[in-house]
Amino acid sequence: MGQMHIIAQLSAGQGLEPGGWRWPGEDKAAFMNDDIFIKGAQLAEKGKLDGFFLVDVPAISADIATTPQGSSLDPIVLMALMAKATTHIGLISTMSTSIYEPYSIARTMRSLDLVSKGRMGWNVVTTGNPHALLNYFAGTPAHGEKHGRAQEVWEAVLRLWGSWPEGALKLDVASGHFADDKLIKPINFKGEYVSSKGPINLPPSPQGMPAVFTAGGGQYGYDFAATKADAMYGNPPTLEYAKAFWQQLSSSIRQAGRNPDEFTVFNGIGVSIASSEKEALERRIALDELGDPSSRQQYLSHMLSIPITGLDIDAPIPDRLLKLARPNRQDHRSQYAYDLAMKGFTIREVLAHGPINYHPVFLGTPESIADKLQQWFEAGTGKGFNIIGDTGLSSLADFVDQVVPILQKRGLLRTEYSGSTLREHLGLPYRNGFAEFEAKAPQATIK
Ligand SMILES: Cc1cc2nc3c(=O)[nH]c(=O)nc-3n(C[C@H](O)[C@H](O)[C@H](O)COP(=O)(O)O)c2cc1C
Repeated sequence: MGQMHIIAQLSAGQGLEPGGWRWPGEDKAAFMNDDIFIKGAQLAEKGKLDGFFLVDVPAISADIATTPQGSSLDPIVLMALMAKATTHIGLISTMSTSIYEPYSIARTMRSLDLVSKGRMGWNVVTTGNPHALLNYFAGTPAHGEKHGRAQEVWEAVLRLWGSWPEGALKLDVASGHFADDKLIKPINFKGEYVSSKGPINLPPSPQGMPAVFTAGGGQYGYDFAATKADAMYGNPPTLEYAKAFWQQLSSSIRQAGRNPDEFTVFNGIGVSIASSEKEALERRIALDELGDPSSRQQYLSHMLSIPITGLDIDAPIPDRLLKLARPNRQDHRSQYAYDLAMKGFTIREVLAHGPINYHPVFLGTPESIADKLQQWFEAGTGKGFNIIGDTGLSSLADFVDQVVPILQKRGLLRTEYSGSTLREHLGLPYRNGFAEFEAKAPQATIK
């Protein structure tokens, strides 16, 4: 059934746990240390992963009093540095369709794609965070407007990329023919929200254009993934959800006239690695202590639909309360929290398993984490994972040094790169522009 695809990320130069920056040995100011990101990309390359991924929410969030910010350094700056410090790893950066104009995206991404020799991915988001939008504009656009604009920006960016086709650059010294100006044509794109005349001022990279990722939630994000993207960063709460999601998405991809084999869902997974299951849980308990366990205890009440905030965090939930507990249907992660509580774990231990984390957490030995990744992969969840450590760079190093070799030994992960571009890593053909996209997926251009 082929091999899995893995990308890695270091948001704020750290992992999934809010208190991770306080972990011994991690750089306390990793969020603004370019070397951390460069080392992260090099580690991902050492593990022969598909890519290194950066989110982007350009704003200060409410928890800055205790937590480093997810995307302080501009990911584009980091991508350029990482491109020069690596040779094979794919580099996937977020650029929001709500913030940037199409020409800015097309030119920046093409520049990076050339500098990296065809290793870029563009992660398309619409920026849900109002604080980020208010840093750029006087107000926040209506939902429909934001997604109408996203559609136009995507189309204009692809048209711009295609406006300089392969073969138009001649560099013919004998004749003095530099480029074929008949092939490099304006796009004259005029939409309701964005316009661009074109053409772009750079030729395509060895992969043509960057692979298109998306990380959108909701119906709009789903439709974008099904009809336009090559890959998706997903946040499924459980294996069952991930399986059902991929079943549905792959059928929507097929309905759009596209091939689901040429699409990867990178399910976000947090990892906490130790030499025994017990040590992994202890590691996470120590990490929780560096965060804010009391607010998590409060949220656990909500997940289990019982009041537990005043209870002893180091004792199991008493039977009389457990009898009344029900997993909260509003949050799919609640079933896992409920199962842990029913097994008799203390409240602290339930929390340490990570049911409240943004992504499912695989904790345990390298072997047991490899087992879980294999289980998800073989269940049919979209072939890919976006791996996030728990503390920072050292937890990513543990994944690459300890889990990756097991997956490689099992034949589930490549041991050498067979190509040099991100499209090749993802099993995608060379492609450059909107016309090629249309030819491939005629029904996919929903207007
Ligand atoms: C796994 C995941 C990762 C995301 N990463 C980002 C990101 O880096 N930057 C961003 O602005 N939004 C990010 N988003 C948010 C989406 O782009 C989208 O804006 C959000 O789901 C709200 O949808 P709306 O724009 O329809 O309100 C992410 C969403 C998901 C599910």
